Amino acid sequence: GKVRAPTHIISTISDDRGEEPCYAGIPMSTIVEQGYGVGDVISLLWFKRSLPRYCTQFIEICIMLCADHGPCVSGAHNTIVTARAGKDLVSSLVSGLLTIGPRFGGAIDDAARYFKDAYDRGLTPYEFVEGMKKKGIRVPGIGHRIKRGDNRDKRVELLQRYARTHFPSVKYMEYAVQVETYTLSKANNLVLNVDGAIGSLFLDLLAGSGMFNKPEIDEIVEIGYLNGLFVLARSIGLIGHTFDQKRLKQPLYRHPWEDVLYTK
Ligand code: ACO
Ligand code: LMR
Repeated sequence: GKVRAPTHIISTISDDRGEEPCYAGIPMSTIVEQGYGVGDVISLLWFKRSLPRYCTQFIEICIMLCADHGPCVSGAHNTIVTARAGKDLVSSLVSGLLTIGPRFGGAIDDAARYFKDAYDRGLTPYEFVEGMKKKGIRVPGIGHRIKRGDNRDKRVELLQRYARTHFPSVKYMEYAVQVETYTLSKANNLVLNVDGAIGSLFLDLLAGSGMFNKPEIDEIVEIGYLNGLFVLARSIGLIGHTFDQKRLKQPLYRHPWEDVLYTK
């Protein structure tokens, strides 16, 4: 009989051997002709299934509202400095992307992990937040440099409004809101931020859509798919900042001495 040589790579999300590429078994012609969007493509390539329209639209809203947040945030700052140092598009982009992490934009997975664990264990917001404090861990998804209890993040409101209208259940999001109510009673900067809103709402999407079983949800949360949403989204803005600096022919950036405290 036939002997199959062992392969060095296993791949399950896409196939380019036929007449046209397929994403999770769906041919490109179907994707184009049936009017699939970026949310559908993300569903196929990340989750290996077609998700209902309200889910793909939610994914697209996350991408649109995280695409940029002005020139002053860590990622854009790095990209601008790099572009002004004369570097190419990819270098400028990755320089910005490298700032995405536990403090900036990359707290979505940890927010999902901690909110899920606390909700599933039935912890009250008080028990959850004070437990985190005892462990010396900041609550991921809570806190912002400029947003406050009396100047909430519009993006969070928009996500919450969409989910309350379209999701069958928003139990994890409601839990995150209760956590926020408690943290705001401690300090005015401890709002639910966009990472926390996406993290908690994606738990609701995974649990409420009926498209994922429990081990699959646990695996998605454990591997950490959700920071990918911010990385993908913010790449749009970082590429824009690179073009902007090049278009403006901005010179090499040098930080002013006056803005540095030189001390021993
Ligand atoms: N949980 C508990 N306490 C917090 C949190 C939090 N998430 N965030 C701030 N605090 C506390 C701090 O401990 C600090 O008190 P302390 O000085 O007694 O320790 C006080 O609030 C003020 O903290 P600052 O350091 O001044 O807050 P800063 O404005 O520098 O931090 C940040 C903002 C980095 C977002 C912070 O709130 C944080 O680490 N949050 C968790 C990570 C996160 O969700 N990041 C995503 C932000 S949204 C985005 O980037 C798109
Ligand atoms: C962002 O989306 O970049 C922000 O929420 C971070 C910030 O500091 O504004």
